[in-house]
Amino acid sequence: MTWDLPLWQSLLPVGRDPATGGYRRYSFTEADSACREWFFNTAAERKLRAECDANGNLWAWLDVGSGAGAVVTGSHLDSVPDGGAFDGPLGVVSAFAALDLLSERGWRPVRPVGVVAFMEEEGARFGLACLGSKLLTGVIEPDVARGLTDSDGVSFAEAMAGAGLDPGGLGVDGRLADRVAAFIELHVEQGSALDGIGANVGVGESIWPHGRWLIEFGGRADHAGTTRLADRRDPMLPYAATILGAREAAGEFGALATMSKVAAVPGGANGICSAVRAWLDARAADEDTLNALVARVLEGARGSADQHGVTVTSRCESFTPVVEFDRDLRDRVVAALAQRGVTAPVLATGAGHDAGVLARLVPTAMLFVRNRTGVSHSPAEHAEPEDCAAGVDALAAVLEHLACR
Ligand code: GLV
Ligand code: MN
Ligand code: MN
Repeated sequence: MTWDLPLWQSLLPVGRDPATGGYRRYSFTEADSACREWFFNTAAERKLRAECDANGNLWAWLDVGSGAGAVVTGSHLDSVPDGGAFDGPLGVVSAFAALDLLSERGWRPVRPVGVVAFMEEEGARFGLACLGSKLLTGVIEPDVARGLTDSDGVSFAEAMAGAGLDPGGLGVDGRLADRVAAFIELHVEQGSALDGIGANVGVGESIWPHGRWLIEFGGRADHAGTTRLADRRDPMLPYAATILGAREAAGEFGALATMSKVAAVPGGANGICSAVRAWLDARAADEDTLNALVARVLEGARGSADQHGVTVTSRCESFTPVVEFDRDLRDRVVAALAQRGVTAPVLATGAGHDAGVLARLVPTAMLFVRNRTGVSHSPAEHAEPEDCAAGVDALAAVLEHLACR
């Protein structure tokens, strides 16, 4: 196949900021509605039965048999602030494209096949990554989700209702494990390992444990021109020390720590802040290392806050434990690709995915599509058309292997 798909083109303008070229597809906004409409239209054009589940996740079904034991593929359509075009949408578009390819070939699945787009995978609006899949699988309580707020103080429940969806029905779907026999998420690679190996498609092995912590420094608002240095209680200072401490600790632990989101309150140039809210994203190959890293960063934050007469509190907003994808399904995926002459390397990743959440209940696998620069969560994120096409071919081979027997 080739990657000159009208389907891909039709999604590209949705939620793209003209100034930065990045995507701002946040849950329950106008851009999100347009993505939802795109999903329903795409399903309807293919005569797939589409539905939005109680958690805001979108499904398109090719109904076969009793409805049990489906093979499902897909990803998400939401983005990080100024995200790229591929993270999420590549998996959803490739899912529909693989079904198109298989139906052109006259395939005869013996079990249902579904395409899914999960709600709020990035946690860009409500802070909790993979919210739709976590609600679906019972990792997060509905009341906790309903009470989450965005940076304007709008609650998840209010935002969902504002988009015409009912937040009253949020929660686990006890039928999931019976309904879905396998979930395959195709995703752009968020690194350049495949490029180094010279492969255009890879298979997921595991996901590093990772999470987000909100750290709040409380100081005293005061005048920038009249307050002596010795008299200040400036929360920016321990915040700055914490960023540097996080970087140093990550290096020491062979892990990753990022502090890219911050709110200075009230944030005037000629005033000392009363508070700084900062977010730590931390990831490591194993949970002990991750816990040690976070403990070190928070200990450093407390020490520095004390020095400057500032208070500090912290709270874990989002945590995803280590995920090892289903060994048997992975072997079947690798075998299906090998039958097509594709040798796909098996890779671990530090990026979070809904596949990692579903893996608790459902055999789950991932396919990665080469990203030559490795850049992601950026408008510069890119995968070459021929690699995207290879991804669709690979996904089609896997779906055929899983759904036709
Ligand atoms: C999702 O892309 C994440 O790993 O943050
Ligand atoms: Mn992402
Ligand atoms: Mn993603």
